[in-house]
Amino acid sequence: MIAAAIVTVQRLTASVVSTGVPNQGNTDAQTPQPRHALQVPYFADRPRWQRRLAYVALSAFGLFILVQFVPYGHNHSNPRVTREPKWDSPQTRSLAARACFDCHSNLTQWRWYSNVAPVSWLIQRDVDGGRAQFNFSEWDKPQDISAGDLAETIRGGSMPPWFYVIAHPNAKLDAAEKLALTRGLAATLAASPPIGGG
Ligand code: HEC
Repeated sequence: MIAAAIVTVQRLTASVVSTGVPNQGNTDAQTPQPRHALQVPYFADRPRWQRRLAYVALSAFGLFILVQFVPYGHNHSNPRVTREPKWDSPQTRSLAARACFDCHSNLTQWRWYSNVAPVSWLIQRDVDGGRAQFNFSEWDKPQDISAGDLAETIRGGSMPPWFYVIAHPNAKLDAAEKLALTRGLAATLAASPPIGGG
């Protein structure tokens, strides 16, 4: 599939660059231009590396357009919230909402770039994977999570993932917030233990 797409793009760009657009500024029939494989009108008289670069850029752009048509990555559903855990405090919920809800709840905020491949593929994978692990919006269903796991990932800094924090600076938790979230989640899970077997 991808290989076929690349070949298509290469053919397309090749036909664009080789349709015999005459060389501007060189209409003298006596001096025929050496015919390059790559004849983007503007680049025809440019050094070889520039023509190559133009070709690569065109191909990359064509590929970028093509991958937008891959169906994966557009399923931006937010299923109904069936039950949340019994939060021990509003503060715990708001910290979790800031740092975890985009991937571990049905209250995902789908940003505009979540529609742009290939970023959309990574986001879809994270949200599907995060919800499958545990989902704060479906506490009436089995969840694969424990207070220990939560504490470990928050303290260790593996959750929220670093690339997510770069794109969402608001999700960055300072040391006090990490402690508050860890303790709050422990109390929350003690009051409403997740159904096992997830
Ligand atoms: C960008 C999406 C994303 C965000 C935001 C996020 N997670 Fe996750 N999380 C995932 C995915 C995907 C998985 C399952 C795959 C894996 O293990 O990496 C996961 C798995 C987990 C696990 C179990 C696996 C393990 O590593 O132990 C825990 C615990 C966890 N997340 C906690 C959190 C907490 C707590 C927050 C908020 C502070 C959070 N996550 C925010 C995507 C996310």
